Order: sequence, then C-alpha cells, then structure tokens
Amino acid sequence: MDGRTEHPRRDRGRLRTILVIAWHLISDPDARCQGFGATSVTSRPPARPATSSASSEPSATRSPSRPQPSPVATGHRCPFRSAQRTLPPARLRFDFPFSFPPRTRPAVRHPARGMKQSTVVARRNQVQNNEIQEEYVSTNVREDAAARPPGAKPADPPGVAPDPADGRVQQMMDLLHGAIITQLLVVAAEFDIAELLAEGPLPVSELARRCGADPQALHRVLRALAAQEVFREAEPGVFTLTPLAETLRVGAPGSVRAWTRFWGLPEKLQAINSLAHSVRTGCPSFTHLYGTDWWSHLAAHPEQAELFNDAMGGLARRIHAAALESCDLTGVTRVVDVGGGHGHLLATILPRYPHMRATLLDQPSVVVGAKAVLDKAGVADRVDLVGGDFFDGVPPGADAYLMSMILHDWDDEQCVAVLGTIRRAMAPNARIMVVESIVPEGNVPHDGKLRDVIMMALHPGRERTEAEYAALFAAAGLRHVATTSLASSTGLLVARA
Ligand SMILES: C[S@@+](CC[C@H](N)C(=O)[O-])C[C@H]1O[C@@H](n2cnc3c(N)ncnc32)[C@H](O)[C@@H]1O
Repeated sequence: MDGRTEHPRRDRGRLRTILVIAWHLISDPDARCQGFGATSVTSRPPARPATSSASSEPSATRSPSRPQPSPVATGHRCPFRSAQRTLPPARLRFDFPFSFPPRTRPAVRHPARGMKQSTVVARRNQVQNNEIQEEYVSTNVREDAAARPPGAKPADPPGVAPDPADGRVQQMMDLLHGAIITQLLVVAAEFDIAELLAEGPLPVSELARRCGADPQALHRVLRALAAQEVFREAEPGVFTLTPLAETLRVGAPGSVRAWTRFWGLPEKLQAINSLAHSVRTGCPSFTHLYGTDWWSHLAAHPEQAELFNDAMGGLARRIHAAALESCDLTGVTRVVDVGGGHGHLLATILPRYPHMRATLLDQPSVVVGAKAVLDKAGVADRVDLVGGDFFDGVPPGADAYLMSMILHDWDDEQCVAVLGTIRRAMAPNARIMVVESIVPEGNVPHDGKLRDVIMMALHPGRERTEAEYAALFAAAGLRHVATTSLASSTGLLVARA
C-alpha cells in the first residue's frame, strides 16, 4: 500500500475520532462544568447573586451525607414559587450525518429530578432550543407530580437557600426584627439619649461619657436606630435628634418616653415571650409565670407600679383625653373616674369644666399617687380620692362615670359585673363613658389588634369590637347610645341605663 492510498483512510479515521470526542464533550455534563458548555450555550437563566446558590448554605447546617447539588446542573428554584423554575442552560443543536456506536457508560441520573441524563439529552436533540426548554419544564413537573404522594407539596431541592431578593423574605425579616427595635428604643429611653441631644448634635464619645455607656456599643445602638429614622448620624460618629426621637424626650408634646421605659419591664417582656402558653390555655401567661395577677404584682413592687402608672399617665393625657374631646360635658356636675390611676385624665378634663367635681376611685396603693398630678393641674381641691375595689362598689349618685382602659383588662363576666355595679349606683339620667381601643372588624390594620396581645399575656381581658362592647352593655342592663373616634387608635362608647 503506497502513501497516496493510505492518507485519505487515515484522515477519515482521524475526522471520525475528532467527531466522536466532540459529541461526548457536548453531551457530557462534566465537560460543561469545566467550561466547555459556556461557549455553546444559547440561552441561560438570569444571573443570581452568589448568596442564593446552594453553595452559600453555611457548612455547619449541611448534612454530611446529603449531596449538595450544583446550582448549574439543577437550575435554581425559589422555594416560595413552587411553580416557577429557572431553566438549565440550553445548547446548540448538532445534526450528525452518520451514526455513532452506542455509548456504554452507565446512564447518569439528573441530580435533582431523578431523570436519566441520556433521556434529557435525547429530548433536547429532537426539538429547537425554545421547544427544549418547554419540554424540560413540563417533563419535570409531570415527573415531580408522579413521584409525590397525593396532596403533598413539591419538595424543594436540598440546600437551596431562599432568594434574598424576594421582597417577602425581607418583609418577614423586618417583622421579626421588631423585637430588637423595641429593645433599642428601651435603651435609648433608659440612657436618656434624646434628652442629651436636646441642645444639639453630639459625638458618640461625648454621649457615652455623659450617660455612662460603652462608646462602641452606644454607636451601634444609635446607628441601628438612625436606620429607623430615630436619631440621625449627621456626620460620622456625631448624632442628632429627629422628629421621631423628640418623642423620647421627657415632657415633649406626645412624649412616649414613659411608655417606652415600661416596655423594658422584664416581667412584662417575659409574659409576652411566653405567649404560646396563653394561646394554648387561654389564660394569661403572666399568672402562669409569676403565680399572681398583674395588679397584685404591681402592688407588691412599687418601683414597677410607678413605671406602669407613668406609662398610663402619658397615654391618658394625650390619647385617652383626645377620645373624650368629641363629648360635651357641660351639663355634668359630678363625674366618677373608675380606675382612674394617678388622675391624669381628670387633670386634663377638669380645667375645661370649672363647675365640675370629681371622685377618683382606684386601688388604695394607687390613689395616693394621684395627689401630686392633680395638684400640678390645679384641680386637687375639686377631686375626692377614694381607695377601693370597683367590683365591691362605686361612689353613687354621679351623672357621669368614666372608665378609661378598664374593661379591656377583664373577661366578659367580670366586665358585666363591674358595669352592673355602676348601673345600680348611677343617677337616673347618668351616662357611662368607656374609653377603649375599639377594634375594627376584618383585616384593617389597627393598634388595638397588637395591644390586644398585651392583654392576652397579662390579663384575662381583651380588646373588643364595637359590637362586643354593645353586647356587654346589654348584658349589664345598659343601652349603648353612641360611639365616636372609631378610626383612631382609641375611641369612646357611651351607654345609659
Ligand atoms: C389600665 S389602668 C387605666 C388607668 C387610667 N384609667 C387610664 O386611662 O390611664 C387600670 C387601672 O385600674 C385599676 N384597678 C385595677 N383593678 C382594680 C380594682 N379592682 N378596683 C379599683 N381599681 C382597679 C388599676 O390600679 C389601674 O389604675
């Protein structure tokens, strides 16, 4: 055989070898992982941030025996959108004019779906690229459904983290972090940061020196609060007040400083942390934890009672008093504030009605604290302080009975009992004025729906709807005659005998 006849045969053999190698490379996923596929891809899923890939899962949380699928091989699937899948890369289609010997390597199963890899490849070569993608999705959906027990949800590929770009995940994180924000505010109130900034911006080192804090820790607290628009970092390390931060100042209009400090009370927090107990049993977690009710606990802990009475006083002066503004009390000569605390509500009402006299009824340990408040408002000489239990009786003969934030502390039976006591004591044309958070029906956002959870943890009571209050009045032999301020966080209900 001479060289001229040998060369074409050798060339044909080489060409065939090259084509066989090329075909194996095209259909071999390992070759693609090494970069080959990148040159032949015609469409790809959108690029994802690195953190969303399976490899971003912290190694400590991975099961050593659990295989970690390559995000390239499986395609990414957001666990919150089970129907939506990102397609794996599609490749160019090659048509070979001659047949190849059958491949002998074992069938590779598609890592995430259990499909034979060879089946996937064969299907891909039957149709155009866009058709390939549709086929891939529908085949996998069918195979997923076939493998699942009836009614079971589609399983997520193991090790795939939620997509951090998903707004719902961030929204949930923000909700969860609400507990941290509460504590940041408690710290700001306890260290009186807003008061220290009243004169103008201060470097955090100076703030820390004045309030006795660690400068770095305080900086981190203020940085986190500045991100919530409470304080502002005017320049690096220098903080200033904002309108929101102003409300943490003592005596500022609408100050919530006392209420914020009350949120730092460990027993209250512990009761709310144990909410699951209340949900399981329907009883206040506070009683379960401390073996006593909230009012007896406060009577035994005067420093906590002071925190509570200050907090309620702040709300009474602004929010509870505002609920009464729609009500003309000109004809009222004698009012009884039932459970009136330290008298903050009377201190705002009496100056507007010079001929009105009042009786403040509360627990003996509480009424003693009212004198200073009423003195300061210049109305102490028109108020009788009575220490007692409103379940036992209330001062008779008045033409208006105020109950501000009382009924929400008690269950229905207890509410009917105290309302009945008042009905029997009141003058013939008298009215009962109930100031409460009136919860709207349905999904409307309302402060009362969250305050209700405090009631659940601390008391046998709850926040109620207008209809529920009307039912309580009826059960106590009273008529519900009016409701005002339903839209605001606190409203007024009026009942008569
Ligand atoms: C949530 S505070 C409301 C205080 C005030 N009315 C206000 O609007 O801020 C409930 C008040 O009811 C008082 N209280 C609780 N049980 C009582 C009882 N059995 N007899 C009299 N007062 C009681 C508490 O001492 C407390 O001052």
